[in-house]
Amino acid sequence: MKSKIIIVMGVSGSGKTTLGSMLAEKLNTDFFDGDDFHPKENIAKMSNGIPLTDDDRIGWLDRINEKGVELIQNNKSGVFACSALKESYRKRLSNTLEKEILFVYPKGSQEVIQRRMDARKDHFMPSNLLDSQFSILEEPKNAIEIDLTKTPEQMLEDTIKKMALSEFGLVGLGVMGKSLARNLANNGTKLSLFNRYVKGSEEGIANKFINSFEELSDAQGFEDLEDFVESMQTPRKIFLMIKAGKETDEFIEKIKPFLNAEDVLIDGGNSHFKDTKRRIEYLEKEGIYFVGTGVSGGEEGALKGPSIMPSGNFDAYKTIEPFLKKIAAKDKKGLDCCTYIGPEGSGHFIKMVHNGIEYAEMQLIAEVYALLRYSNQMSPDEISEVFKEWNQGELKSYLLEISSEILTKKEGDNCLLDMILDQAGNKGTGNWTTVTATEMGMPATMITSALFARYVSSVREKYGNLSLITEQSFIKLEIETVKNAYSLARIINHQQGFTLIKIASEEYRWNLNLSEISRIWTNGCIIRSTLMEEISAVFKHNSDIFDDLSIFENVNKFRSALKTFCVSSLMAELPIPTMLAANDFVNSLNGEIKTANIIQAQRDFFGAHTYQRTDAERGKFFHTNW
Ligand code: 6PG
Repeated sequence: MKSKIIIVMGVSGSGKTTLGSMLAEKLNTDFFDGDDFHPKENIAKMSNGIPLTDDDRIGWLDRINEKGVELIQNNKSGVFACSALKESYRKRLSNTLEKEILFVYPKGSQEVIQRRMDARKDHFMPSNLLDSQFSILEEPKNAIEIDLTKTPEQMLEDTIKKMALSEFGLVGLGVMGKSLARNLANNGTKLSLFNRYVKGSEEGIANKFINSFEELSDAQGFEDLEDFVESMQTPRKIFLMIKAGKETDEFIEKIKPFLNAEDVLIDGGNSHFKDTKRRIEYLEKEGIYFVGTGVSGGEEGALKGPSIMPSGNFDAYKTIEPFLKKIAAKDKKGLDCCTYIGPEGSGHFIKMVHNGIEYAEMQLIAEVYALLRYSNQMSPDEISEVFKEWNQGELKSYLLEISSEILTKKEGDNCLLDMILDQAGNKGTGNWTTVTATEMGMPATMITSALFARYVSSVREKYGNLSLITEQSFIKLEIETVKNAYSLARIINHQQGFTLIKIASEEYRWNLNLSEISRIWTNGCIIRSTLMEEISAVFKHNSDIFDDLSIFENVNKFRSALKTFCVSSLMAELPIPTMLAANDFVNSLNGEIKTANIIQAQRDFFGAHTYQRTDAERGKFFHTNW
């Protein structure tokens, strides 16, 4: 066993000292009575019958914590009996011991404990003491629960059995599943891992994986679903890292018979938010929780700290929160890039829009690259330098950083990029964002154009033999102009993406917190950037990033650069759908230029669809006999 600090917690009379000392003996480690760690002032207060305040307890908890840290530093375990009645106390005890600490909770009702104490001749427990303890008791979500009506020997046996069980399960050892499993194990979570058995292609995957990484030495591998489920503490917490869609439904059907009420399935794949809602409702009938969870950051993020977006039943979220928070990326203030998003499939909804924004961010970089490479005639290395420099300042983003690296990658004397087939793939989330935006009547024009740019790249090959007449004229642009155009296009992309989230939140009554969402996207995820940090601050006071004057100022400041960028690219015959979408969106903000009125007139002309007038009140409709 890895070194552990085990805290047997609970109210007075729950048997924590008896169980703790028996457990220490069984595990051959030292036992510590929490009461021995009170500072003098507390002892004085207690002996004068003065109740301790939360502030009084800080020093006491810190001293126990220090002892725990000392034991771990010396590669030792220890068992402590300590009431630890409140969540905040347990947090204090866990400080820097998050990976090693384990709570055991002998659980029973107030009546049972009172009766037990009354029956013990040597021990008198005033009922008001128990009253006050129960009034502040916040039951732990992640402790090993032991039934205190059993004999101490039975309680010990149950504790040992439950300690051997895993705290968390993970299904699906693909790239993301493996990285998340290692991240969980690195953060002290005892795991059960399941991978399906497919003769010839997927055999013994979980055990082979476990044997390859030191941090998984405590983990158990399975190919039998029932054994896998039985290997976990209840309520079970199981991360599903399997293919979205049909496979997820099929897997749910297979695992469901082995699950109990209150078990939690966490779907970490890129599932459609409507599927997530359906699955939540379906499993709810059996009392099983389903938490749809967006996970972003790719393979490396999953291993070192992804951005995590869980949604569904809030109580179910609370039971998995400590595990998710431990593995999440941290923002600049050290806060976890994991937060409860909202009900239903809202976590998968925002992950979907995240990916849509990602599509447009990637396409914008591609269009900037095209202009620099073809119009400005710069080499990949030179463009890489430009990206690197931008990445030092307010344009800093993960996608710009990796693009700068990509441009320098060589294969022999060749730039690897030039050897990559010019066809962009996709797995569907950009498509869903586009469909959703159109269904909701929202102009996510940049995401849509970026998606279609990928589709166009796939049909291009078909027309490769057509003799296209070209009349390209290359106008070298100032790097500053390109930079400003790119800056503005990114602002528009984020404005459109977040507005989509805002409107969905209103339509579905999710009550989403845009500031928190953008905050958990400042690190760990693919679209992390300095702009995201600014946006998160803006959403603390506004619900639209255009409401922030300093951001909107940039629309005016960089508009002419964006226009110049588009004109130059068009002159060079470069495909720039996403920059054009940004430019069009800005142009459309100008209320002086009217084009929708003629659409309304046409509709009224041929179909008597009516129109509203500028000189009449809104909501009044007119028809003309044209
Ligand atoms: C992330 C990524 C991740 C994945 C997408 C890419 O946030 O970590 O978005 O979810 O890379 O599957 O989607 P496409 O294959 O559609 O580009």
